[in-house]
Amino acid sequence: MSDVIPGIPGFSFRGGALFCEDIAAEKLAQRFQTPLYVYSRAALEHNIADWKRGIEGTPHRVFYAMKANGNLALLDLFARAGLGFDIVSAGELARALAAGAKGQDIVYSGVGKSVSDIKAALQADVCCFNVESIPELDRINAVALSMEKKARISLRVNPNVDAKTHPYISTGLKNNKFGISFECAVEAYKKAAAMPGLVISGIDCHIGSQITELAPFIHAAHKVLDLVEALDAEGIALDHIDFGGGLGVRYADEEPPKAQELIAALTQCAKERGFGHLPLYFEPGRSLVAQTGMLLMRVEYLKPTAAKNFCIVDAAMTDMIRPTLYQAQMRLVNCIERSEGAALEYDVVGPVCESGDFLAKNRTLAVCEDDILAMTGAGAYGMSMASNYNARSRAAEVLIDADKAWLIRRRETIEDQMALESRLPQV
Ligand code: LLP
Repeated sequence: MSDVIPGIPGFSFRGGALFCEDIAAEKLAQRFQTPLYVYSRAALEHNIADWKRGIEGTPHRVFYAMKANGNLALLDLFARAGLGFDIVSAGELARALAAGAKGQDIVYSGVGKSVSDIKAALQADVCCFNVESIPELDRINAVALSMEKKARISLRVNPNVDAKTHPYISTGLKNNKFGISFECAVEAYKKAAAMPGLVISGIDCHIGSQITELAPFIHAAHKVLDLVEALDAEGIALDHIDFGGGLGVRYADEEPPKAQELIAALTQCAKERGFGHLPLYFEPGRSLVAQTGMLLMRVEYLKPTAAKNFCIVDAAMTDMIRPTLYQAQMRLVNCIERSEGAALEYDVVGPVCESGDFLAKNRTLAVCEDDILAMTGAGAYGMSMASNYNARSRAAEVLIDADKAWLIRRRETIEDQMALESRLPQV
């Protein structure tokens, strides 16, 4: 038996067949059809324990960024483990509440909060709004006053730090749309302090995603702490510092720090600067879920051409957009180990009518028609970014707990897809 993802339980090869916990991937594909997202409860609990160990004995809090994967069953596990949630929409708010979270377990991020989003969040009494602009401060103040409430806020500052990640998932540079610029932050806090509908709670930053080194986090932390110091001098006290999410995972040969290392390093920064007493908030998404899920797909055709070999599968960019959107190198394995001798180089592509519809390029695979392939590391930003393009129904999701498989989202049907639309009356 060999683990498929080093250091993470849940996926292993047993006698040449891929298993999720105690169930063979082939069996799952037969029973639930493909494409299929499969999550391991053991892997989820392993990652939750890692983050919780990091904050043990401290006043720090972990808010799961549910945009990475918002399935209610996963949210249930996080809520039961005592994690809070980082949300970015009224839809995510509703999901967090449905999973049993209290308002005080929720921080609300995002650049474009609408009036109705803000109302819903105030109604739920969220722990903190992470505010990204002065107009948003004005709006939250006005909505809070109209509801005779006070909104607790943090300003998300843009520290202008290079997270050294893909440009589409880099958020802490001054040409990104996110946050209030470092230079304007103190003035913005002074404005907020004068608004009667607001209570200043903390400071926030999030510099990007899939960050695999500690240095950018530490660089950003020191800039945030410069502001905490400046605010202190102005008599503006904070009750927490939110360092956002962004911790990367090992998709191929990356060697990201562990959650504990990140937490220890940032705690140390805060201590060194005299703010060790302030609780730190973290908003991890990917590092909690990426390695807990795989996407199963069936090989429809093997298509050799003069230029390339194509392996055409039944999953597509509509199920997993990361390879085409971010040039992400996601690992693919055959669920039945075949002899290396039969291996060829393939582009693994889906049925969607776009040349950008690929899951992997130039990948050496020993594969036959009808085989089941598994994309590992697919638990984050897979299903949550799925679409219905080409009128494809979104995949089913199952959660494996030892030898039990729970269907946690049934496969979408064509009827589901059409249910929201109306025909024109016959005239
Ligand atoms: N907090 C905020 C304010 C965020 O914007 C994000 C992610 C997170 C936390 C969680 O970051 P994480 O720990 O997952 O890196 N779809 C892209 C990733 C987009 C991340 C957007 N913001 C991908 O598939 O790589």
